[in-house]
Amino acid sequence: MAKLKIQPDKRLGTIRKEIYGHFSEHLGRCIYGGFYVGEDSAIPNVHGMRTDVVEAMRKIRIPVLRWPGGCFADEYHWMDGIGPKANRKKMINTNWGGVTEDNSFGTHEYFELCEQLGCEAYVNGNLGSGTVREMSEWVEYITLDGVSPMSNLRRENGHEKPWKLSYFGVGNENWGCGGNMLPEYYASEYRRYQTFVRNYNNAEHVNKICCGPNNDDYEWTKTVLGLLFRNCDPRSHGNLDGLSLHYYVVPGPWENKGSATDFDEKVWYKTLAKAYFMDELIRKHSAIMDEFDPERKIALIVDEWGGWYDVEPGTNPGFLYQQNTMRDALLAGITLNVFNKHSDRVGMANLAQTINVLQSVILTEGADMILTPTYHVFDLYKEHQEGQLLESSIDVGSVGMEAEYQLPWVTESVSEDADGVLHITLTNASLTEACPIDVEIAGRKAAEANGEIVCGAMNAKNTFAEPQCVTAKAFTDFRSENGALSFTLPPRSVLHMSVKAEA
Ligand code: AHR
Repeated sequence: MAKLKIQPDKRLGTIRKEIYGHFSEHLGRCIYGGFYVGEDSAIPNVHGMRTDVVEAMRKIRIPVLRWPGGCFADEYHWMDGIGPKANRKKMINTNWGGVTEDNSFGTHEYFELCEQLGCEAYVNGNLGSGTVREMSEWVEYITLDGVSPMSNLRRENGHEKPWKLSYFGVGNENWGCGGNMLPEYYASEYRRYQTFVRNYNNAEHVNKICCGPNNDDYEWTKTVLGLLFRNCDPRSHGNLDGLSLHYYVVPGPWENKGSATDFDEKVWYKTLAKAYFMDELIRKHSAIMDEFDPERKIALIVDEWGGWYDVEPGTNPGFLYQQNTMRDALLAGITLNVFNKHSDRVGMANLAQTINVLQSVILTEGADMILTPTYHVFDLYKEHQEGQLLESSIDVGSVGMEAEYQLPWVTESVSEDADGVLHITLTNASLTEACPIDVEIAGRKAAEANGEIVCGAMNAKNTFAEPQCVTAKAFTDFRSENGALSFTLPPRSVLHMSVKAEA
């Protein structure tokens, strides 16, 4: 019997809601056909945004949406996407399939979408191929309330009041598609560009996100931070609020990543062990950040994460359309538990990429929409948003078929919400073994418990023909007697228990 120990008196800080964020790029059918169908579409929409998709994303309480890329961001010229749609410039999306981008979804449409979703805005600027002036004017266009050329232009285009810009990315993957820069060069460019990302309206601070490392490139983190903190006014603290980290779980080599649906037991464990590697990445990058920022004021922003597999057979390779299985549910559950446990450093995370691209939470086909296993995990975990992380541990060993690819049999995280309810989320990565668990809540007794679970066969997925194969179901198979709570966590499962506990 494994013991899950919870210490309600050891509160470790707030789990920022932004950890449950999403990322949407002008890539394949993420924006066009995913979020946006246009006002004239027969698909039900409000100002062009799909009603079904907006409702589904509101249900999981999407807290923030990163846009417009990705690699696309460093080739995007925002002025091409404002004004009357008929006059908007068309461009080639060179990164993603070479298709024509007609810019019908631009700044106004993005903020309309955020408003409908009820989420914060995270706009990623163009440092790779754009000018300082262009970046500066975009922020002015979005946020300035007074009189200026850009705020006047915004008004001419139909939006009187500025929008709230919570986060602004100063470039994306500038070590790669964003300009192939060396860390020294990017750091200099960051120092210059960020200077002109202004806070125009005193009350609204724009959080600046600096392009951070790819995977385990610790040298990038060290070099960039070293140069940002050099000769800088200590009050400005390096002039960054967040440092991004990108990490994708790719089971095979890049040229043969592996199928999203057709994989065996070995690949299941390999994928999930690679997902758990996120823990090491956060610890090691965070330790470097501690050298410059011991009080952890600068957030690690994992603004691209998720599984990356071969595209679905017969689809455009540049569109990155992949299916989603029970393996992805585990990948998400494990990663979100890791983020929760590091919420003293991780201030935001954005799953790549919301709809029809990579590890999506939603797939669409014309007017039809299905929710993926990953969606249901976000639904289970949403109760952690803005909760207080509690100290917790579980004494289990590891699972895996190869020595190199082992991961904890069970992962967990626990938070307490504003009403004092405890939220426990657990993953069981074993393909075969159920895990009996006793819950020990120090100094308290479990008075009332409820559970919901996502579980299924290894390759189980939802399709347009069978959209309900993997969903969240009530979990009632627990014992709650005399203040003691115990249950058996099935193999291949992600569980959320909410527990009212009394002293
Ligand atoms: O999410 C797909 C791509 O992956 C993004 O455009 C880029 O930032 C990363 O390499």
